[in-house]
Amino acid sequence: MVVKAEGLASGKGVYIAQDFEEATFAVRELMVEKKFGTSGERIVVEDFLEGEEATVMVLFDGASYLFLPSSQDHKKVGEGDIGPNTGGMGAYSPAPVVDEDVLRRVEKDIIFPLLEGVERENLYYRGVLYLGLMISKDKTPWVLEFNVRLGDPETQVVLPRIRNDWLEVSLALWEGKLHTMRLEVTPEAMLSVVLASRGYPGHFERGKRIEGLEAFPNRPGDAVLLFHAGTVWQGDGYYTDGGRVLNVCAFGKDLEEAYSRAYEAVSRIHFEGMYYRRDIGFRALKNRGSR
Ligand code: GLY
Repeated sequence: MVVKAEGLASGKGVYIAQDFEEATFAVRELMVEKKFGTSGERIVVEDFLEGEEATVMVLFDGASYLFLPSSQDHKKVGEGDIGPNTGGMGAYSPAPVVDEDVLRRVEKDIIFPLLEGVERENLYYRGVLYLGLMISKDKTPWVLEFNVRLGDPETQVVLPRIRNDWLEVSLALWEGKLHTMRLEVTPEAMLSVVLASRGYPGHFERGKRIEGLEAFPNRPGDAVLLFHAGTVWQGDGYYTDGGRVLNVCAFGKDLEEAYSRAYEAVSRIHFEGMYYRRDIGFRALKNRGSR
């Protein structure tokens, strides 16, 4: 089963318990030791679902909606999805597990009922709906979580694939005119590797000088884009200032190329204690038989 803190815990308040003892341990940490403070005052206990996780974000203007390109996050700290949860160690888009069939089921079984509920309960919402999904083997999309925001690090690989002017998209959303928009999405894939500080997701180091950033001018249209997450400019350069420090993102004609480019870029960047997962995209790449 899964035991979760009901409140916010930076993606870390989730325990996957294999047996009663592990579930008891989770409940004790959350409710007795109060590891996440008041966030753990109430907990949620759910079935453990097997399958592949994926993220589908939807723009919603109160009446109509647009799917953003699919993506997949890598929440565990260790390669092969082991170890504690993090805020996300990397992502790629599109996620092949979200094929046309899955998307139609998301629409029919999740989006349509959601829209009906929004109308029935007379709710006002315009913005992004983030669907964290588990796609089970029979291709059923199960909702793990909804957020009313963009996802991190998924956004870093989703938004650059959209060729429309994002301001126009946002304005159409705000004015309730999403039905007039068509998203132009590049067929290129994008993959992002998060560079993290030693110690993350526990207590991590800060203040390490980051070398190698000058190789990446970060211009629109570049094959490699860097998104800063936990960095600070100190006059003579950038220094680490967070657990997740940088997102190194690369485009490719397919996921393999995006993977090679992203890791080639990672090899040029360095700071003391830097670590990252070397297997971002492994599920999709393995399914293609290339890794
Ligand atoms: N990537 C997970 C989230 O943004 O919630």
